[in-house]
Amino acid sequence: MDKLLIAASGPLAGEVAASGAKNAALPILCAALLIDQPLHITNLPDLWDIGTTRKLLSQMGVAVSQPAVNEVVIDAKSITTCVAPYELVKTMRASILVLGPLLAKRGEAQVSLPGGCAIGARPVDLHLLGLEAMGAEIKLEGGFIHATASRLKGTRIMFDTVTVTGTENLLMAAVLADGESVLENAAREPEVVDLARCLIAMGAKIEGAGSSTIHVQGVAELHGATHRVIPDRIETGTFLVAAAITRGRVRITRTDPNLVDAVLVKLQQAGAKVATGVDWIDIDCRGRRPDAVNLHTMPHPGFPTDMQAQFMALNSFADGVSTIRETIFENRFMHAQELLRLGAEIRIEGNTAIITGRESLTGAPVMATDLRASAALVLAGLAAEGETLVDRVYHIDRGYERIEQKLGQLGAKIRRITKQESGA
Ligand code: UD1
Repeated sequence: MDKLLIAASGPLAGEVAASGAKNAALPILCAALLIDQPLHITNLPDLWDIGTTRKLLSQMGVAVSQPAVNEVVIDAKSITTCVAPYELVKTMRASILVLGPLLAKRGEAQVSLPGGCAIGARPVDLHLLGLEAMGAEIKLEGGFIHATASRLKGTRIMFDTVTVTGTENLLMAAVLADGESVLENAAREPEVVDLARCLIAMGAKIEGAGSSTIHVQGVAELHGATHRVIPDRIETGTFLVAAAITRGRVRITRTDPNLVDAVLVKLQQAGAKVATGVDWIDIDCRGRRPDAVNLHTMPHPGFPTDMQAQFMALNSFADGVSTIRETIFENRFMHAQELLRLGAEIRIEGNTAIITGRESLTGAPVMATDLRASAALVLAGLAAEGETLVDRVYHIDRGYERIEQKLGQLGAKIRRITKQESGA
């Protein structure tokens, strides 16, 4: 297994470009299953999860080609099977996103149940209830979701909880359903909006994406399109925290400041000077120890749970005591245990972490437990004295494109130790 070796890096400086958003790209790749024509996707990040989705589509007989770097063309005309096998689903829960489009277009789908994962139970009951409400017949057998439908029927779906992939799955089902669907208490995340934009380019009739009520008028058929994926707001936010934690000055380009409003507010509260343009963000934290900031995670436009771990790393170095409350996922504080190994002072009480900032922490070997937890450990390693060795970096490769190169270009002392080198 690869590891990342990170040394105390001093203030980061320079410019780095954001990649396309993983969480927008995943549903958009699956949206290609709704048509028998090519879907051309650009600004696609080169990530492990994207590779898994490509494999998932390929093993269904879908043609996937790569005309250029960070682009794919997907043509589902040649699809031979509507099965998402356990081997792929177990490595990526977002595989569930094939369910809605397969059912809507092909009338059947067999998707392995994702099961639990490191950051909590994460059920898919709301996806299934919504599809059933649209007329699908769903059985759970042998660890698989077996879903069938002749043609889905538009209906009103009220989500009990705001679910991002649940909203995306039902949106993709509704675009080909018979009649109107209304999704209430829908997720408002920018990735839902990006999927809706792509579906509209394919001929779908959708109104209200980005608000909590989405209206969809089903159509009989959709067509091919070209779509550019939005910038990754979590990668952008991670680079912003990298600047703050090292007391540096960084410009992030090819991003969109509107996507990271909640994160910028917290960084400003921490004392960062922030300037923005249409597609860039400057953050200046030179010579300034960050102030501790309190936060709680919320569905968009609140503070994103996917930035919680990175802010726990920041608060571990900050001036003052802070609280971080996680309201979206249970058990999403595994990074706290690893930060303690660097000398951080963190106490967990239920879904709240109480962090007493320290002037300095000391590097140590640590274990990445999930995608964003591993980002937090990398950030802490940049600011800690000595060396930090992050094990299990496959978690970070799932969602960050060339992180060691990108941080390296800002002056971070970070090196990948491959499996061969370490002999592990
Ligand atoms: C997506 C993101 C993930 C992010 C999360 C919250 C993708 C591929 N992943 O995950 O990075 O951390 O949104 O912003 O976009 N829930 C149910 N029943 C369901 C579905 C969800 O109870 O059927 C609960 C979950 O357990 C959780 C909450 O709803 O407590 C939110 O989860 P959800 O928004 O569905 O997360 P994902 O879509 O899996």
